Amino acid sequence: MRETIEQQLFSVDEIAQRVQELGQQLSLDYAQLDPLVVVVLKGSAVFASDLIRHMPISLQVDYIGTSSYGDDTQSSGQVRIVKDIEVNLLGRHVLIVEDIVDTGLTLQYLLATLGLREPASLKICALLDKPSRRRAEVPVDYVGFSIDDHFVIGYGLDYASRYRQLPFIGVLKLEEE
Ligand code: IMP
Repeated sequence: MRETIEQQLFSVDEIAQRVQELGQQLSLDYAQLDPLVVVVLKGSAVFASDLIRHMPISLQVDYIGTSSYGDDTQSSGQVRIVKDIEVNLLGRHVLIVEDIVDTGLTLQYLLATLGLREPASLKICALLDKPSRRRAEVPVDYVGFSIDDHFVIGYGLDYASRYRQLPFIGVLKLEEE
C-alpha cells in the first residue's frame, strides 16, 4: 500500500485555538472538583499534554491503555485494557480524554469498566468525533471537532504506529501500489 497525506484537515493554529477553548471550558466546569484526568493511550497523549496546560486548576492525571487497531484502519470491535490506571476512582470526578471517537466501542467499554469503580462523575472529552461511524451510543461531553468519515493522522493519531508526531491533523489515503 502507498500512503499519502491527502489533505490537511486542521492546522497547527486551528488545533491550538480549539484546545485552548476546551481547556478554558473544562477549567470553569471542574474548578471546584479536583478532577482526575484519565488519558487514553497512546493517541491522546499529545492532545492531553496540551489540554492540561490550559487547565490551571487542581487536578490529577493518570493514563490508561486499551487494545488498538493494530496495523489496520478498521476496528476489530474487541476492546481490552492493556495498562490500567493507578489512582482509586471512588468518589472522584473523572474526565476521560480521548483522541477520537470512531465506532464508540472503546469508550463504551471504558465507561462501563470505570463506572464500576464508583466515581462521583464520569465524562468524556474527545478532540475529534466521527459520528457517522458510531456503533455504540456514547455521550461525548466535550468535542474539539466533528469530522466526516476520514482516516486521520497527526497530533498523536497514528496509522500503523506512524505519523503521531505531525503537528497538524491530516487525512491519510491508502492506495494499492
Ligand atoms: P473506536 O473504539 O472505534 O471509537 O476507536 C477508538 C480508537 O480508534 C481511537 O482512540 C483511535 O486510537 C483509533 N482511531 C479511530 N479512528 C481513527 C483515525 O481516523 N485515525 C487514527 N486512529 C483512529
